[in-house]
Amino acid sequence: MQVTAESITDAALADRVRAARPSEVRKVFRAAQRPGMISFANGAPYLGALPFDALASSAARILAEAGPVALQYGASQGLPALREHIVSLMALEGITAGADEVVVTAGSQQALDLAARILVNPGDVIFAEAPSYAGGMAVFSGYEADLVHIPMDADGLVPEELENAIAAVRASGRTAKGLYTIPNFQNPGGVNLSVERRRRVGEICRANGLLIFEDNPYGLLGFDGTTLPAIQPDFPDITMYFGSFSKMIAPGLRLGWVLPPASLYTHFLNTSETTLLNPPVFNQMLLSSYLDDPAWEAKLDEYRSLYREKFQVLVETLEQVMPEGTRWNLPTGGFYLWVTVPDGIDTEALVHECIDRGVVYVPGTAFYTNGRGHNELRLSFCLPTLEQIRQGGAILGEVFTAAAAKGGRA
Ligand SMILES: Cc1ncc(COP(=O)(O)O)c(C=O)c1O
Repeated sequence: MQVTAESITDAALADRVRAARPSEVRKVFRAAQRPGMISFANGAPYLGALPFDALASSAARILAEAGPVALQYGASQGLPALREHIVSLMALEGITAGADEVVVTAGSQQALDLAARILVNPGDVIFAEAPSYAGGMAVFSGYEADLVHIPMDADGLVPEELENAIAAVRASGRTAKGLYTIPNFQNPGGVNLSVERRRRVGEICRANGLLIFEDNPYGLLGFDGTTLPAIQPDFPDITMYFGSFSKMIAPGLRLGWVLPPASLYTHFLNTSETTLLNPPVFNQMLLSSYLDDPAWEAKLDEYRSLYREKFQVLVETLEQVMPEGTRWNLPTGGFYLWVTVPDGIDTEALVHECIDRGVVYVPGTAFYTNGRGHNELRLSFCLPTLEQIRQGGAILGEVFTAAAAKGGRA
């Protein structure tokens, strides 16, 4: 078929793109950008407390002293100095790795994409928590994986459910390829995978020949600074570990990383080179100099307290305004409150009314591939101010209470 600018139709699209579900959530995120909108939608950090003056001086110094390096192409693996910092950060979660085992990426999102590109064949089954990060699932779906959800409880994904799901996939003749898990302050559930279960889940994966995709952007963001041991140290040969500076420092830097099993390292490096050439050098230099100063740890602590306060204000507000029968978990860190409203209230339908009233959240359906989540929603509490949380919470309360009074209709 001859393709011209005028005639590009669905028929011209690659099968994997044509098969992709158009996402309703995009509309929600577009609404979140409107001026004045109170956004509980964006999984974004609050950057108001960053030391912008110090960052500006660092940026000026880097450009003055090393401009031609900072603005040049660089090593595809990332800068050694930044990789050394990454190694120290991972050590806080019990990971022992050398700087030459890490690949710096354009956010962990790019690292997830690399992993899927390297490891997923069409039709492979990837297990993911129910609910799970929409952006992660979209990556796997983009490479035509079949996502199968594993239920969670208060201790994270339930190992017996994973075993059952593996058996069912096998019985159906499909390939069970890997587990995508967010063990800390899970997005969107806010839950931690308990330490005992980390081992158990790893053993199940190993026994069944599954890879583990351990996605951990929130691990150092516990409100009290407690960190849990990563899965990777006990299962280094089957685990891809993904880290990110987006939630701890600033997503605009677009810097994250992957620690793959040694046997896959060259594939990750070569594939990253193909897609990105190299991560941005200037950003890496700026970030690296920020991490050189121990003041960054005090800043992280300040953010932990700030986020705890925002979380507490959100919960106090919801307690006063949400209709009877609404439930939420109480995360001990991270960015998200996962809310379940009484049956019959459809969060996907109501989000439009909330947007009209100036507040936006992500409906639960965005976090499942199986149509569930209509009576659930995710509230991100880090970005809005305390005042916005109170105001936005009050609007949610009015809209949801009215819907409950109507018997759940939007
Ligand atoms: C669980 C999870 N993984 C990965 C990402 C992507 O983060 P990054 O900004 O590092 O690409 C996000 C962002 O929301 C996330 O929540």
